[in-house]
Amino acid sequence: MTIILAHRGASGTKPENTMEAFIAAERAGADGIELDVQLTSDGEIVVIHDTTVDRTTNGSGLVKDFTRTSMQSLKANNHFKHFFKKASKIPTLIEVFDWMKENRCLCNIELKNNIIPYEELEEKVAALIYKYSYEKRIIISSFNHTSLQKMIEICPEVETAPLYNHHLYKPWEYASTIKANGIHPKLKIMTDDLIKTTMEFGIHVRPYTINNRRDMKRLFQLKCSAIITDFPEKAVRLRKLQ
Ligand code: G3P
Ligand code: CA
Repeated sequence: MTIILAHRGASGTKPENTMEAFIAAERAGADGIELDVQLTSDGEIVVIHDTTVDRTTNGSGLVKDFTRTSMQSLKANNHFKHFFKKASKIPTLIEVFDWMKENRCLCNIELKNNIIPYEELEEKVAALIYKYSYEKRIIISSFNHTSLQKMIEICPEVETAPLYNHHLYKPWEYASTIKANGIHPKLKIMTDDLIKTTMEFGIHVRPYTINNRRDMKRLFQLKCSAIITDFPEKAVRLRKLQ
């Protein structure tokens, strides 16, 4: 069965990377969530996509220059302000992990360190995974493949997958070379044959970002390992019909 991972939570209908979006995804029946992590100036792992807070909050500036407290005083639903009266907050990874105690959700953590490098992000994420014993519930991905390899070394029990958006001739060989057990490609660079062959080599294929019915149906029929979508509710409905 194809696993459904909610991209930044149910970000098509709730403010991205907030607890509201993660809770909605789980309630919709998603198997897991995808989220992005960076570090604050005082070393807290926070869940936010952009390297600045400008687009999604009422503040401005680089994530790395905020303390956890100042970061969490921002309203994280700026891009959804017409729809939500209650302000959302930027969650810490600890808050997400605490919430995961109440459910069986998987969590795809994207290390967002391909633009701004964060010292010891990998070590901090690995320590938290071990603290919560979530080794079997986490998939680590990143566009920064050097960082991903570091993660594979310090946390070998966790599934890992390089994110990429350019064509790779034999993605299964690339994944094996860096010792990852999955790939997270942009959908448009994946043919049916590439998906099938990669999976035949035992490498999980979880393309992003799958938002329309036609693509969802195609990937469900291919028995693709997982899809990453902004609309988990739609995906769950469609998967039931397959
Ligand atoms: O994990 C898939 C996707 O999240 C990668 O792109 O920019 O949405 O983080 P982006
Ligand atoms: Ca992401």
